[in-house]
Amino acid sequence: MDNIIDKINKLKKEKNAVILAHCYQNIEIDAVADFVGDSLYLSQQAAKTDADIIVFAGVFFMAQTAKILNPGKKVLLPRLESGCLMADMVNYNQLMDFKAKYPNIPTVCYINSTAEVKSECDICCTSSNAVKIVKSLGAEKILFLPDTYLGKWAEKQVDGVKVITYPGYCPTHLRIKAEDVAEVRKKYPNAKVLAHPECHQSVTSMADYVGSTTGIMKYAAESKDTQFVIATEKGVVDRLKRDLKDKEFILIKDNVVCPNMKWHTIDDIYNALAYEQNEITVDENIAKKALVCINRMLEVSK
Ligand code: 13P
Ligand code: SF4
Repeated sequence: MDNIIDKINKLKKEKNAVILAHCYQNIEIDAVADFVGDSLYLSQQAAKTDADIIVFAGVFFMAQTAKILNPGKKVLLPRLESGCLMADMVNYNQLMDFKAKYPNIPTVCYINSTAEVKSECDICCTSSNAVKIVKSLGAEKILFLPDTYLGKWAEKQVDGVKVITYPGYCPTHLRIKAEDVAEVRKKYPNAKVLAHPECHQSVTSMADYVGSTTGIMKYAAESKDTQFVIATEKGVVDRLKRDLKDKEFILIKDNVVCPNMKWHTIDDIYNALAYEQNEITVDENIAKKALVCINRMLEVSK
Protein backbone atom coordinates (compact mmCIF):
# COMPACT_ATOMS: atom_id res chain seq x y z
CA MET A 1 0.00 0.00 0.00
CA ASP A 2 2.79 2.45 0.99
CA ASN A 3 4.42 1.90 -2.36
CA ILE A 4 1.34 2.88 -4.35
CA ILE A 5 0.74 5.87 -2.08
CA ASP A 6 4.31 7.04 -2.77
CA LYS A 7 3.81 6.52 -6.49
CA ILE A 8 0.57 8.57 -6.47
CA ASN A 9 2.21 11.36 -4.45
CA LYS A 10 5.12 11.43 -6.92
CA LEU A 11 2.75 11.58 -9.90
CA LYS A 12 0.79 14.40 -8.26
CA LYS A 13 3.95 16.50 -8.06
CA GLU A 14 5.16 15.65 -11.57
CA LYS A 15 1.79 16.38 -13.16
CA ASN A 16 0.65 19.23 -10.89
CA ALA A 17 -2.45 17.23 -9.93
CA VAL A 18 -4.81 17.52 -7.00
CA ILE A 19 -6.99 14.75 -5.52
CA LEU A 20 -10.39 15.66 -4.07
CA ALA A 21 -12.24 13.02 -2.03
CA HIS A 22 -15.76 12.98 -0.62
CA CYS A 23 -16.25 11.79 2.98
CA TYR A 24 -18.26 8.80 1.71
CA GLN A 25 -15.21 7.37 -0.08
CA ASN A 26 -13.32 4.30 1.14
CA ILE A 27 -11.23 5.70 3.97
CA GLU A 28 -7.86 4.47 2.53
CA ILE A 29 -8.24 7.13 -0.16
CA ASP A 30 -7.67 9.88 2.41
CA ALA A 31 -3.97 8.88 2.41
CA VAL A 32 -3.55 10.36 -1.09
CA ALA A 33 -6.25 13.04 -1.03
CA ASP A 34 -5.34 16.73 -0.83
CA PHE A 35 -8.82 17.71 0.29
CA VAL A 36 -11.49 15.53 1.93
CA GLY A 37 -14.92 16.94 2.67
CA ASP A 38 -18.55 17.37 1.71
CA SER A 39 -19.97 18.48 -1.63
CA LEU A 40 -19.76 22.21 -0.89
CA TYR A 41 -16.19 22.10 0.39
CA LEU A 42 -15.03 20.05 -2.60
CA SER A 43 -16.72 22.36 -5.12
CA GLN A 44 -15.10 25.34 -3.38
CA GLN A 45 -11.70 23.62 -3.62
CA ALA A 46 -12.33 22.78 -7.29
CA ALA A 47 -13.20 26.43 -7.94
CA LYS A 48 -9.90 27.72 -6.57
CA THR A 49 -7.34 25.07 -7.49
CA ASP A 50 -4.38 25.95 -9.71
CA ALA A 51 -3.64 22.30 -10.45
CA ASP A 52 -3.59 21.14 -14.08
CA ILE A 53 -5.30 17.83 -13.31
CA ILE A 54 -8.12 17.18 -10.84
CA VAL A 55 -8.72 13.56 -9.82
CA PHE A 56 -12.18 13.37 -8.24
CA ALA A 57 -12.77 10.54 -5.80
CA GLY A 58 -16.50 11.11 -5.65
CA VAL A 59 -19.51 10.55 -7.89
CA PHE A 60 -20.06 11.66 -11.49
CA PHE A 61 -21.93 14.93 -10.82
CA MET A 62 -19.06 16.08 -8.56
CA ALA A 63 -16.45 15.53 -11.27
CA GLN A 64 -18.77 17.15 -13.81
CA THR A 65 -19.15 20.20 -11.54
CA ALA A 66 -15.35 20.41 -11.17
CA LYS A 67 -15.01 20.33 -14.97
CA ILE A 68 -17.63 23.08 -15.43
CA LEU A 69 -15.66 25.21 -12.95
CA ASN A 70 -12.38 24.39 -14.75
CA PRO A 71 -13.04 24.05 -18.48
CA GLY A 72 -9.33 24.25 -19.31
CA LYS A 73 -8.23 21.55 -16.87
CA LYS A 74 -8.28 17.77 -17.04
CA VAL A 75 -10.82 16.26 -14.63
CA LEU A 76 -10.56 12.50 -14.09
CA LEU A 77 -13.08 10.18 -12.42
CA PRO A 78 -11.16 7.00 -11.46
CA ARG A 79 -14.21 4.74 -12.02
CA LEU A 80 -16.85 5.97 -14.46
CA GLU A 81 -19.51 3.72 -12.86
CA SER A 82 -19.63 6.13 -9.91
CA GLY A 83 -22.98 7.74 -10.67
CA CYS A 84 -25.51 9.14 -8.21
CA LEU A 85 -28.88 7.39 -8.22
CA MET A 86 -30.60 10.55 -7.01
CA ALA A 87 -29.03 12.76 -9.70
CA ASP A 88 -30.21 10.28 -12.33
CA MET A 89 -33.83 10.62 -11.17
CA VAL A 90 -34.34 13.85 -13.13
CA ASN A 91 -33.30 14.44 -16.72
CA TYR A 92 -33.64 17.54 -18.89
CA ASN A 93 -37.15 16.69 -20.18
CA GLN A 94 -38.45 15.85 -16.73
CA LEU A 95 -37.10 19.17 -15.45
CA MET A 96 -38.80 21.05 -18.29
CA ASP A 97 -42.13 19.30 -17.54
CA PHE A 98 -41.76 20.16 -13.83
CA LYS A 99 -41.06 23.82 -14.64
CA ALA A 100 -43.95 23.96 -17.13
CA LYS A 101 -46.33 22.66 -14.43
CA TYR A 102 -45.27 25.51 -12.09
CA PRO A 103 -44.33 28.43 -14.38
CA ASN A 104 -42.41 31.55 -13.30
CA ILE A 105 -41.11 30.16 -10.02
CA PRO A 106 -37.37 30.26 -9.22
CA THR A 107 -35.80 26.81 -9.48
CA VAL A 108 -33.15 25.49 -7.11
CA CYS A 109 -31.33 22.29 -7.97
CA TYR A 110 -29.36 20.21 -5.53
CA ILE A 111 -25.74 19.89 -6.67
CA ASN A 112 -26.61 16.16 -7.00
CA SER A 113 -27.94 16.75 -10.53
CA THR A 114 -26.63 16.59 -14.09
CA ALA A 115 -25.06 19.49 -15.98
CA GLU A 116 -28.12 19.60 -18.30
CA VAL A 117 -30.39 20.07 -15.29
CA LYS A 118 -28.12 22.73 -13.75
CA SER A 119 -28.08 24.58 -17.08
CA GLU A 120 -31.84 25.25 -16.76
CA CYS A 121 -31.99 26.09 -13.03
CA ASP A 122 -31.54 29.48 -11.36
CA ILE A 123 -29.16 28.39 -8.62
CA CYS A 124 -27.87 25.19 -7.11
CA CYS A 125 -27.24 24.21 -3.49
CA THR A 126 -25.66 21.50 -1.40
CA SER A 127 -26.98 19.99 1.81
CA SER A 128 -24.87 22.42 3.86
CA ASN A 129 -26.17 25.62 2.25
CA ALA A 130 -29.71 24.66 1.10
CA VAL A 131 -31.36 26.86 3.75
CA LYS A 132 -29.14 29.84 2.93
CA ILE A 133 -29.80 29.45 -0.81
CA VAL A 134 -33.58 29.19 -0.35
CA LYS A 135 -33.52 32.33 1.85
CA SER A 136 -31.30 34.19 -0.61
CA LEU A 137 -33.97 34.04 -3.30
CA GLY A 138 -36.45 36.02 -1.22
CA ALA A 139 -39.31 34.29 -3.08
CA GLU A 140 -42.65 33.10 -1.70
CA LYS A 141 -42.47 29.89 -3.72
CA ILE A 142 -39.57 27.95 -5.13
CA LEU A 143 -39.16 24.74 -7.10
CA PHE A 144 -36.61 22.32 -5.69
CA LEU A 145 -35.13 19.21 -7.25
CA PRO A 146 -34.29 16.36 -7.29
CA ASP A 147 -34.30 15.65 -3.51
CA THR A 148 -37.78 16.00 -2.09
CA TYR A 149 -36.54 15.43 1.50
CA LEU A 150 -33.80 18.05 1.44
CA GLY A 151 -36.28 20.49 -0.16
CA LYS A 152 -38.94 19.86 2.49
CA TRP A 153 -36.39 20.04 5.29
CA ALA A 154 -35.13 23.42 3.99
CA GLU A 155 -38.74 24.65 3.77
CA LYS A 156 -39.21 23.90 7.48
CA GLN A 157 -36.16 26.03 8.37
CA VAL A 158 -37.32 29.13 6.47
CA ASP A 159 -40.47 31.06 7.40
CA GLY A 160 -42.90 32.02 4.67
CA VAL A 161 -41.50 30.02 1.76
CA LYS A 162 -43.39 27.26 -0.02
CA VAL A 163 -40.96 24.73 -1.48
CA ILE A 164 -42.46 22.65 -4.27
CA THR A 165 -40.34 19.52 -4.56
CA TYR A 166 -39.67 17.01 -7.30
CA PRO A 167 -40.13 13.40 -6.16
CA GLY A 168 -36.43 12.40 -6.13
CA TYR A 169 -34.63 10.80 -3.21
CA CYS A 170 -31.42 9.13 -2.10
CA PRO A 171 -31.95 5.35 -1.86
CA THR A 172 -29.08 5.06 0.64
CA HIS A 173 -30.46 7.61 3.11
CA LEU A 174 -33.99 6.28 2.73
CA ARG A 175 -32.85 2.94 4.13
CA ILE A 176 -32.94 4.68 7.51
CA LYS A 177 -36.42 4.40 9.04
CA ALA A 178 -38.12 6.05 12.00
CA GLU A 179 -38.18 2.60 13.69
CA ASP A 180 -34.37 2.54 13.51
CA VAL A 181 -34.20 5.84 15.40
CA ALA A 182 -36.70 4.56 17.99
CA GLU A 183 -34.62 1.40 18.45
CA VAL A 184 -31.29 3.22 18.95
CA ARG A 185 -32.94 5.65 21.35
CA LYS A 186 -33.86 2.65 23.52
CA LYS A 187 -30.48 0.96 23.14
CA TYR A 188 -28.37 4.11 23.64
CA PRO A 189 -30.53 6.48 25.74
CA ASN A 190 -27.68 8.97 26.26
CA ALA A 191 -26.55 9.14 22.64
CA LYS A 192 -27.22 12.11 20.39
CA VAL A 193 -28.70 11.21 17.01
CA LEU A 194 -27.19 13.18 14.10
CA ALA A 195 -28.94 12.89 10.73
CA HIS A 196 -28.39 14.05 7.14
CA PRO A 197 -31.22 16.09 5.56
CA GLU A 198 -31.49 13.55 2.71
CA CYS A 199 -33.19 11.27 5.27
CA HIS A 200 -36.97 10.93 5.36
CA GLN A 201 -38.69 13.63 7.47
CA SER A 202 -39.88 10.96 9.91
CA VAL A 203 -36.17 10.43 10.68
CA THR A 204 -34.97 14.06 10.67
CA SER A 205 -37.88 15.06 12.92
CA MET A 206 -36.58 12.62 15.57
CA ALA A 207 -32.91 13.65 15.34
CA ASP A 208 -31.02 15.90 17.79
CA TYR A 209 -29.14 17.56 14.95
CA VAL A 210 -29.68 17.63 11.18
CA GLY A 211 -26.87 18.71 8.90
CA SER A 212 -24.58 17.97 5.98
CA THR A 213 -21.64 15.59 6.19
CA THR A 214 -19.37 18.39 7.39
CA GLY A 215 -22.09 19.75 9.67
CA ILE A 216 -22.41 16.37 11.39
CA MET A 217 -18.63 16.02 11.80
CA LYS A 218 -18.29 19.53 13.20
CA TYR A 219 -21.20 19.04 15.59
CA ALA A 220 -19.67 15.81 16.93
CA ALA A 221 -16.23 17.42 17.33
CA GLU A 222 -17.56 20.46 19.19
CA SER A 223 -20.19 18.74 21.33
CA LYS A 224 -19.62 17.96 25.02
CA ASP A 225 -21.52 14.69 24.48
CA THR A 226 -19.49 11.55 23.97
CA GLN A 227 -21.82 9.05 22.29
CA PHE A 228 -23.43 9.61 18.88
CA VAL A 229 -25.65 7.61 16.56
CA ILE A 230 -24.98 8.67 12.98
CA ALA A 231 -27.81 8.60 10.46
CA THR A 232 -25.90 9.05 7.23
CA GLU A 233 -23.43 7.19 5.01
CA LYS A 234 -20.89 4.87 6.67
CA GLY A 235 -17.86 6.85 5.46
CA VAL A 236 -18.74 9.62 7.90
CA VAL A 237 -18.69 7.18 10.83
CA ASP A 238 -15.37 5.67 9.67
CA ARG A 239 -13.76 9.14 9.69
CA LEU A 240 -15.32 10.18 13.00
CA LYS A 241 -13.99 6.99 14.64
CA ARG A 242 -10.54 7.67 13.22
CA ASP A 243 -10.45 11.37 14.15
CA LEU A 244 -12.28 11.54 17.50
CA LYS A 245 -10.99 8.56 19.46
CA ASP A 246 -12.32 9.78 22.82
CA LYS A 247 -15.92 9.65 21.58
CA GLU A 248 -18.14 6.76 20.48
CA PHE A 249 -19.86 6.64 17.09
CA ILE A 250 -22.52 4.15 16.06
CA LEU A 251 -23.77 3.82 12.47
CA ILE A 252 -27.56 3.71 12.77
CA LYS A 253 -27.73 0.55 10.65
CA ASP A 254 -25.14 -1.47 8.76
CA ASN A 255 -26.47 -0.98 5.25
CA VAL A 256 -26.24 2.82 5.07
CA VAL A 257 -23.57 2.52 2.41
CA CYS A 258 -23.69 4.27 -0.98
CA PRO A 259 -22.40 1.61 -3.41
CA ASN A 260 -21.54 4.22 -6.05
CA MET A 261 -19.30 6.13 -3.66
CA LYS A 262 -17.33 2.97 -2.93
CA TRP A 263 -16.16 2.11 -6.46
CA HIS A 264 -12.85 3.96 -6.39
CA THR A 265 -9.83 2.18 -4.96
CA ILE A 266 -6.29 3.46 -4.50
CA ASP A 267 -5.30 1.42 -7.60
CA ASP A 268 -8.02 3.14 -9.66
CA ILE A 269 -6.71 6.51 -8.55
CA TYR A 270 -3.19 5.52 -9.55
CA ASN A 271 -4.39 4.32 -12.98
CA ALA A 272 -6.46 7.46 -13.59
CA LEU A 273 -3.52 9.70 -12.79
CA ALA A 274 -0.75 7.63 -14.42
CA TYR A 275 -2.60 7.12 -17.73
CA GLU A 276 -4.78 10.25 -17.51
CA GLN A 277 -7.82 8.12 -18.19
CA ASN A 278 -11.56 8.55 -17.60
CA GLU A 279 -11.58 12.21 -18.46
CA ILE A 280 -14.88 14.05 -17.92
CA THR A 281 -16.11 16.33 -20.70
CA VAL A 282 -19.16 18.61 -20.76
CA ASP A 283 -20.81 20.17 -23.83
CA GLU A 284 -19.60 23.77 -24.02
CA ASN A 285 -23.04 25.44 -24.22
CA ILE A 286 -24.46 23.38 -21.38
CA ALA A 287 -21.34 24.00 -19.30
CA LYS A 288 -21.59 27.79 -19.77
CA LYS A 289 -25.19 27.86 -18.53
CA ALA A 290 -24.55 25.40 -15.69
CA LEU A 291 -21.60 27.53 -14.56
CA VAL A 292 -23.93 30.47 -13.90
CA CYS A 293 -26.07 28.24 -11.66
CA ILE A 294 -23.02 26.90 -9.75
CA ASN A 295 -21.31 30.29 -9.43
CA ARG A 296 -24.45 31.84 -7.95
CA MET A 297 -24.32 29.22 -5.21
CA LEU A 298 -20.60 29.78 -4.56
CA GLU A 299 -21.20 33.54 -4.35
CA VAL A 300 -24.01 33.14 -1.77
CA SER A 301 -21.89 30.65 0.21
CA LYS A 302 -18.80 32.89 0.58
P1 13P B 1 -23.03 16.39 1.38
O1 13P B 1 -21.67 16.11 0.89
O2 13P B 1 -23.48 17.76 0.99
O3 13P B 1 -23.23 16.12 2.82
O4 13P B 1 -24.03 15.42 0.57
C1 13P B 1 -24.09 14.10 0.74
C2 13P B 1 -24.25 13.33 -0.48
O5 13P B 1 -25.11 12.52 -0.62
C3 13P B 1 -23.33 13.52 -1.54
O6 13P B 1 -23.75 12.84 -2.61
FE1 SF4 C 1 -26.26 10.00 -4.54
FE2 SF4 C 1 -27.29 9.19 -2.21
FE3 SF4 C 1 -25.00 8.16 -3.05
FE4 SF4 C 1 -25.11 10.72 -2.25
S1 SF4 C 1 -25.43 8.91 -0.99
S2 SF4 C 1 -24.09 9.92 -4.07
S3 SF4 C 1 -27.18 11.26 -2.94
S4 SF4 C 1 -27.03 7.95 -4.08
